[in-house]
Amino acid sequence: MAFPENFIKELTERNDIADVVSQYVRLNKKSGNNLFGLCPFHSEKSPSFSVSNDKQIYHCFGCGKGGSVINFIMEIENLSYPDAIRFLARRVGLAVPEDEKDENYSRRERMLQLNRDAARFFYDQLSTPSGEIARQYIIKRDISNAMVTSFGLGFAPDSWDSLVSAMQKKGFTKPELLDAGLARASKKGDGGVYDTFRNRLMFPVIDIRGSVIGFSGRILDDGEPKYMNSPETLVFSKSHNLFAMNLAKKSKMGYIILSEGNIDVVAMHQAGFDCAVASLGTSLTPEQARLISRFVNEVVIIYDGDGAGIKASQRAINILRELEIRVKLVRMVGAKDPDEYIKKFGAASFANLLTGSEKDKNYMLADIAVKHDLTTDEGRIAFLNDATNFVSGFSKNVDREVYSYRLADMTNVKKETILKEVERLHSKKANKWYKNEAKEEEKPVKMNQPKTKSIHFDDVKSATAEKGVISFLYSDPSLIDKCSELDENDFSDQLLARLFTEIKKQIEKRTEPSISSLSEYFTNEEMSIFAGTLNKPLELSNGEKAMINYINIIKAQKLARLNSAGNSSILNDFASKLRESKGYGG
Ligand code: GTP
Ligand code: MN
Repeated sequence: MAFPENFIKELTERNDIADVVSQYVRLNKKSGNNLFGLCPFHSEKSPSFSVSNDKQIYHCFGCGKGGSVINFIMEIENLSYPDAIRFLARRVGLAVPEDEKDENYSRRERMLQLNRDAARFFYDQLSTPSGEIARQYIIKRDISNAMVTSFGLGFAPDSWDSLVSAMQKKGFTKPELLDAGLARASKKGDGGVYDTFRNRLMFPVIDIRGSVIGFSGRILDDGEPKYMNSPETLVFSKSHNLFAMNLAKKSKMGYIILSEGNIDVVAMHQAGFDCAVASLGTSLTPEQARLISRFVNEVVIIYDGDGAGIKASQRAINILRELEIRVKLVRMVGAKDPDEYIKKFGAASFANLLTGSEKDKNYMLADIAVKHDLTTDEGRIAFLNDATNFVSGFSKNVDREVYSYRLADMTNVKKETILKEVERLHSKKANKWYKNEAKEEEKPVKMNQPKTKSIHFDDVKSATAEKGVISFLYSDPSLIDKCSELDENDFSDQLLARLFTEIKKQIEKRTEPSISSLSEYFTNEEMSIFAGTLNKPLELSNGEKAMINYINIIKAQKLARLNSAGNSSILNDFASKLRESKGYGG
């Protein structure tokens, strides 16, 4: 779209670059005609971002970004050229010539103005005496003042006409209020109107250009309906917008978190996850997906632990994948939503949840689910093939049962059928492993000695079991429960004992065991032994049994060593007594 030259000239004259940039960057250091600040486009410690007043340009010596005030807005607000123009035009109250030809344009602009004024009104209500109830609610939900400001939260008073009359004073008409969905026509048919939103915590819905396009209002108690949204209007379409996308588009996280609740989104932003958005009470639409794809190519979907949650996510996954957006499903355990999760377990734990440890069963299962279309029979069968195979590898009976039931929920297949299949696969795996293990034990002693000359196992049988304990523990830290009876003194080999102790320490600190963090304590040669030990393929489904087996071997070998040591010390005693008696005698 070509804008007239005169218009652009006026637009840029009225939007002084230093003014505009100052809304995003603290500009202070002055050298010559240039202002300096920390670049908003890359992270830096000393200011290399400069704004030139006379040239009306910005330039970063660090990352090389630069341009006019329009480029700056395109870059920082993530807007197209025409949208950046509209953004700047709105900023200084200038009409956009091309848009004026559009007959709906002025009606739309009026509605946006009304919405903006209404948002301002709701926000201001928070600091009035009648806003006390909303302030209390905000405190109760642990929402910080910073979040109230950045989301522009507000309060719709418990009154029939407070918004209507405030907006009428500003010159907006009843039909305008009705069109914007902010007022409703009185049932009496007397032409009267009343406030749509009453006694609610207000969440303005702001589009990516920064316009307030609608509202979501949450009730302040347990009443119904919990949420009320603006109806579809000239400027508001639920299916084309996402709550908090105006903030998330500026995030540096590189992905978008898709969740459901408005409060959850606020809680996530407050905890530092400024890339969280929510659909406006509908499941994800193709239009919303397209909106997301303009900014990122990765989406993390956070869903409820129940079966309905994953089914709901399924549609979203298909839509997103069509746009070649990578999708990751995250399932929360121990909390019903992100808000509760963060409050219970903290932001760090939430971050871990998002990164999704590969060893996490839920994450793995979700990952398998993403690969299949659970809405079709073929998809469900293919999914069950992969998923039962995965679940059959769990060593704990309880785990296999619980996850079998979860699979049943996800696919609507009888849980007994799934559990039976899982157990069949489980014993098949167990048998195979035992056969291999038996072969291993029959290997000549020499083959189980380290290849490194400087390290030698005195008791190969015990050392092999010690290595077994370590490698299982490393792959499945929950097996630590089985090691309560095992002590580093039981180990025949010093090095393996140290390794066992370090790994145990890590598990007790609740960190995932990691060999790289051991490098500090062990030599390269020792590390290579560990790597070899940990490299051995395991059948984790046998974890518990194998651990018990190994520990028995270790204990038995220790006893055997003690006995032989004990015997020899008795012999030594005997010998010295013999010498003594000889001495006495001689
Ligand atoms: P809290 O219960 O306060 O934590 O609310 P929440 O913001 O986490 O929302 P919740 O998980 O209960 O619901 C998820 C989303 O569904 C909300 O953000 C709304 O968009 C939508 N929603 C929930 N209840 C209603 C309702 O009664 N009516 C409408 N239209 N939408 C709703
Ligand atoms: Mn919630």
